[in-house]
Amino acid sequence: MGQKIAVYRKEHFNAAHRLHNPNLSDAENALIFGKCNYANYHGHNYELIVKVTGEIDPKTGYVIDLKILSDLINQFVIEKFDHKNLNLDTVEFKDLNPTAENIAVVIYNLLRDKLDKQYELKVVLYETERNYVEYPA
Ligand code: NI
Repeated sequence: MGQKIAVYRKEHFNAAHRLHNPNLSDAENALIFGKCNYANYHGHNYELIVKVTGEIDPKTGYVIDLKILSDLINQFVIEKFDHKNLNLDTVEFKDLNPTAENIAVVIYNLLRDKLDKQYELKVVLYETERNYVEYPA
């Protein structure tokens, strides 16, 4: 078995959201989510980093062709979420609070099925320059 090595692809999308739990009162929502609970939504410039770990293919010298990875991310993630209102325009967040945590898990699940099982997958999502999440942890 060869040694594992990680490759990364960065992508970007803009999206609007509102953090809100319909099971909580308006006051509780405002307390927990602050500005992110404002009724009329707000936007973020999301930076997405997709990490794929595997062995180097002796034929190509690649773990995975990053053009293929980029195309997968664009087709199944970016086109779905870019310039969308996550709460209103996507089935994924119709009943799921679109926190960075939940968005990262959704993106992981969208990509996991599209990647060969030999690859390990990790998703890092920056909601702001200072706030980011990683899944799986
Ligand atoms: Ni927000």
